[in-house]
Amino acid sequence: MAEDILRVEDLTKSFDGNTIMNNINFSVPRGELSAIIGPNGAGKTTLFNLITGYHLPDKGRILLEGRDIVGKHPYDIVRLGIARAFQRTNIFPRLSVLENMVATVISNRRGSLNMVTPVQKLKAVHERAYPVLESVQLAEAAERQSGTLPHGDQKRLDIAMALALEPKILMLDEPTAGISPEERWQTIDLVHELWQRLGITMIFIEHDMDIVFKISQKIRVLCYGSLLAEGTPAEISKNQKVIEAYLGEEV
Ligand SMILES: Nc1ncnc2c1ncn2[C@@H]1O[C@H](COP(=O)(O)OP(=O)(O)O)[C@@H](O)[C@H]1O
Ligand SMILES: [Mg+2]
Repeated sequence: MAEDILRVEDLTKSFDGNTIMNNINFSVPRGELSAIIGPNGAGKTTLFNLITGYHLPDKGRILLEGRDIVGKHPYDIVRLGIARAFQRTNIFPRLSVLENMVATVISNRRGSLNMVTPVQKLKAVHERAYPVLESVQLAEAAERQSGTLPHGDQKRLDIAMALALEPKILMLDEPTAGISPEERWQTIDLVHELWQRLGITMIFIEHDMDIVFKISQKIRVLCYGSLLAEGTPAEISKNQKVIEAYLGEEV
């Protein structure tokens, strides 16, 4: 049996007295490609915020390779191996694509690089950024101002910025949100190929059920505070609770 890289135990979170997450439990085996699905407002992004240290849970543990990361700063969680791309991209629009990559690496390595960093070291960061940009088909856009790129390219830049942090777990919050149906598959094929090539664990939030059911090994369904179900695409598509609460007759 594969070792669990991530384990969420009794995770609970309220905002202003509203329980958004109520005793969520699940484990993610190392190397798994999985989806989180659920209605708008179900708490999917909140779950990512809790795992990546942006929010503190009211209760529960989040174990990364057996170690509880609750209470750790987001930077420390990145260094322990969890990186994310955001539902609304996290890029600096005025910086070039390459500068965004460099800024991400520098700002997430507190102390090791700063304003007086020797040029040699910066050069090394540049050199490492290029293959990552190539892997998301953005190497040719390296010098472009990132805010002028098409939305799909900006989403892929956000993914590249997360990948530049060399994570063990990559979390993607709606990697295809707001991009055209044609571009959507291009992005997803790329995500799938990156997963196969890098062998890392990936967890993505996605609304497009064709995508979810096509590429996921495991699907977890969040529904207003609870983990309604988890299973393979075949299991989830037959799950009566999920069909009633979320999928309808769609799948
Ligand atoms: N920082 C916050 N403060 C207050 N309420 C929040 C905050 N973040 C999320 N929420 C609320 O939590 C619920 C779940 O939001 P979210 O996790 O963004 O859902 P999803 O990503 O599944 O659409 C929503 O009702 C949202 O308004
Ligand atoms: Mg969300």
